[in-house]
Amino acid sequence: MDDTRISSGTYLGDEDIEEVTLRPKVLEDFVGQKKLRENLLVYIQAARQRHECLDHVFFSGPPGLGKTTLSAIIANEMGVQFRATSAPALEKAGDIAAILTTIGENNVFFIDEIHRLKPLVEEILYSAMEDFQIDVVVGNGPGARSIKIPLPPFTLIGATTKAGLVSAPLQSRFGITNRLDFYNLSEIAEIIHRSARILGIAIEDKAAMKLSQCSRGTPRIANRLLRRMRDFAQVWGDGAITTAILARGLDALEIDEAGLDNLDRRILSIIIERYKGGPVGSETLAISIGEAVDTLEDVYEPYLIQTGFIKRTPRGRVVTELAYKHLGKVIIKDENQGLLF
Ligand SMILES: Nc1ncnc2c1ncn2[C@@H]1O[C@H](COP(=O)(O)OP(=O)(O)OP(=O)(O)O)[C@@H](O)[C@H]1O
Ligand SMILES: [Mg+2]
Repeated sequence: MDDTRISSGTYLGDEDIEEVTLRPKVLEDFVGQKKLRENLLVYIQAARQRHECLDHVFFSGPPGLGKTTLSAIIANEMGVQFRATSAPALEKAGDIAAILTTIGENNVFFIDEIHRLKPLVEEILYSAMEDFQIDVVVGNGPGARSIKIPLPPFTLIGATTKAGLVSAPLQSRFGITNRLDFYNLSEIAEIIHRSARILGIAIEDKAAMKLSQCSRGTPRIANRLLRRMRDFAQVWGDGAITTAILARGLDALEIDEAGLDNLDRRILSIIIERYKGGPVGSETLAISIGEAVDTLEDVYEPYLIQTGFIKRTPRGRVVTELAYKHLGKVIIKDENQGLLF
């Protein structure tokens, strides 16, 4: 999987190390997702007034939109500890039992990639979430017996990029379910200004707006592009990000005005050239571009669909007229087959 591309929403480790600095700590600093933010504020206030833990929360949505950030904010706003892990790290029943039995009262337990929980671990979560207790088997063979261990009340926050893969029994145990959506241009511009302020980068208003157009509605990508532009501005100019520096920088990164990079454009041209504009199944398409189906569906496609370059149909993916225009390809209408080039 090509996880190194600059316009991927996926976390890139070292590349994104500054993310921690840029992560808002309180709801008020969290830009966008207005409805979700307002509702959360009510739930948090109500739980605090009752001196109870917050109901279990489920976040889904594409990478880099703020699921982890919001989860940490919730713990902060509730005034409790934030304990984070990722589903693949919970190998055995004992791994999760060890965490749950040592978690403090009303604290937040965050599980990232919750769609990847092992069934055995997931089952333990069911009673932990519902009754704040777990059943643990002690001993083995005929002498084995199951004992119930009570847990302190806690809030489980689960996050996933693949809500469809989370089992119904697990999903139904979350009282608060939220889907994060791509941010609009002015929200991303606001995030860029906020990050620039924190990092001490000067950026022209126009440049911030232009940069937001290339950020695929994703704060993580906006922050990453901002840091790259800071480098260009430092070497090519006096450190300030101007529209001229930005244009040259985006060109250097081969990112176009719609925020598409080489791979996005390759996906579109392969559908047009090899599959006559589609429909083409995602498996076939994934093989053609040399990527895993998962990566294609979670990382590349959502933005291409959201911006209207690709449509999902029951028979597969189809490119739209917009894609032809964007790539400068000519469409020839064919009465029987729809769009051809
Ligand atoms: N609403 C927001 N306002 C300001 N900054 C944000 C916002 N949402 C996200 N960010 C920034 O984007 C970065 C990525 O967000 P985050 O790690 O929470 O995404 P995620 O949804 O958990 O992604 P993944 O699916 O990869 O785990 C954060 O470090 C933060 O700097
Ligand atoms: Mg995350």
